[in-house]
Amino acid sequence: MITIVGAGKVGASAAFEILRYRISDVTLIDIAEDLAKGEALDMMQAAPAIEFDGKIRGTNDYSEMEGSELVIVIAGQGRKPGMTRIDLMNNNAKIIRSIVKQVAKHAPDSKLMIVTNPVDIMTYIARKESGLPPNHVFGMGNILDTLRFRSYIAQELNVSRQDVNALVIGEHGDSMVPLVEYASVTGIPITTLLTKQQIDKVVQRTINSGADVIKLKGATIYAPAAVIALMADAVIQGRNRVLSVSTCPSGEYGCSDYSIGVPVVLGKNGVERIIDLKLTPESKQRFEKSITKIKTAVAQLKK
Ligand code: 2OP
Repeated sequence: MITIVGAGKVGASAAFEILRYRISDVTLIDIAEDLAKGEALDMMQAAPAIEFDGKIRGTNDYSEMEGSELVIVIAGQGRKPGMTRIDLMNNNAKIIRSIVKQVAKHAPDSKLMIVTNPVDIMTYIARKESGLPPNHVFGMGNILDTLRFRSYIAQELNVSRQDVNALVIGEHGDSMVPLVEYASVTGIPITTLLTKQQIDKVVQRTINSGADVIKLKGATIYAPAAVIALMADAVIQGRNRVLSVSTCPSGEYGCSDYSIGVPVVLGKNGVERIIDLKLTPESKQRFEKSITKIKTAVAQLKK
């Protein structure tokens, strides 16, 4: 069973994606009990259409997460237009700390996935305060950024998104690092297909992509929801997907102690292992700036 904490638009959309792909039963927890119950009832009524015969329930009772294989935390304030994800830090840190205590109490054997922003800092808090094994605690990281990078490369080349492979690492924020050196179309490096100007344009659009949606519609919903379901599938089905997830390297990429987006194998045990990559001097420099940004933010966390 998967527990989703936060039955707002992203949490509810992610829950429905998980049901639609028949990944797992879902328990939706929200302090707004009627919201959680209403979303669950609405989805149960849709279940025959998506041929889902499992269980979906809504509650405000944290004890109902008992037995969860995976707990996904989405609760917290979302960005408003003009805000950065870091602006949400101290407000959302309080929420994450209280939820993590409940997870430690009711689902200590679960894997814990953090979506709440700023996700790298919230994942850092969850790792420090949950008492769960480190590899069981991880954040959504740069998977969303990677999907966006792939979409923009495909658009620039007018090719299928399915044939574009790419990777973004670093902060899930303005200092993220789209790895141009590893981006390809069916194995053909994009550096042989796009000019430097085109690549710079695609990189900048990727970095701004979340804010671009928020400016237009106030929040991102379908994209994060799709990524949450993809990550849930990797853990519950033990798919060993290679994805850029927020976790604490143990020295890889010159980083330890702080949670940041790096390529990992994501499977049954959460972060199965971290994949260390050789970076170009430019990417290495940008990644180091990202680590510094996260370290500085953590130092400003109110206790
Ligand atoms: C995004 O980039 C919510 O941070 C998430 O859409």
